[in-house]
Amino acid sequence: MNFTGKVAVVTGGARGIGKAISKRLSDLGADVAILGRNVEAAQAFAAELSAGGRRAKGYACDISDAKQVDAAIEEVVKDFGKIDVLVNNAGITQDGLLMRMSDEAWSKVLETNLTGVFRAIRAVARPMLKARSGAIVNIGSVVGLIGNAGQANYCAAKAGLIGLTQSAAREFGPRGVRVNAVAPGLIETDMTANLSDDQKKGLTGNLPLGRAGKPEDVAGVVAFLAGDDAAYITGQVLAVDGGMVM
Ligand code: NAI
Repeated sequence: MNFTGKVAVVTGGARGIGKAISKRLSDLGADVAILGRNVEAAQAFAAELSAGGRRAKGYACDISDAKQVDAAIEEVVKDFGKIDVLVNNAGITQDGLLMRMSDEAWSKVLETNLTGVFRAIRAVARPMLKARSGAIVNIGSVVGLIGNAGQANYCAAKAGLIGLTQSAAREFGPRGVRVNAVAPGLIETDMTANLSDDQKKGLTGNLPLGRAGKPEDVAGVVAFLAGDDAAYITGQVLAVDGGMVM
């Protein structure tokens, strides 16, 4: 895998799974644009990556804000000249039982985890389709495949992401742009840090691979799907879940 000369955009790319993805793509030679709500964190991590010899830059972008998404992508193209890879990683949870879930909790998660991804894809479509080349990888979740009590909003968004991935793959394929998704299982990040040890054990105890995943477990698969080794793969959802869903 070699991303030398390629430009990758990673949303939410300064923390957790997104940070591991930014690092992996940078290690493999890519110039990386890190989009995040917390611009200081994005810029600080970009500076760290730049110290390793690659170009990297942090951008302020709340993915749930259409104007910010368009502006950030435009700025990346201005700075780097093109976009070869988009990784839609930014995401949130706002859990609660369905019968008590507020409209706000529903909308906020859909707006960030699904509509935000749609807007980022729409924003990169022009430069990628014009170049007749590009790869988009969306970070879904296994719960988008099987549902989860207490996460109706999150599961609906992640399930919607699959339809979005497949539709974009069909629209963009003839123009040389591939679109795939990764569906992680339980990965150790800030997002899952609040789960108790018992809850984690309950989720991982019966897994064939018997452990929670690490951000790096996801990053390698994202790099594969974004790279030329996956040149004949589009519209797919690859579970990275220790065997949870099969
Ligand atoms: P995290 O909470 O550590 O990181 C999420 C990142 O997204 C942060 O950098 C955050 O600032 C950014 N973000 C959130 N809302 C944003 C917004 N409106 N605009 C811009 N950036 C925003 O979580 P983690 O675990 O690294 O999650 C990354 C992705 O992986 C998410 O899409 C999540 O749904 C997905 N995922 C995580 C799993 C896990 O077990 N940790 C399992 C399955 C999927």
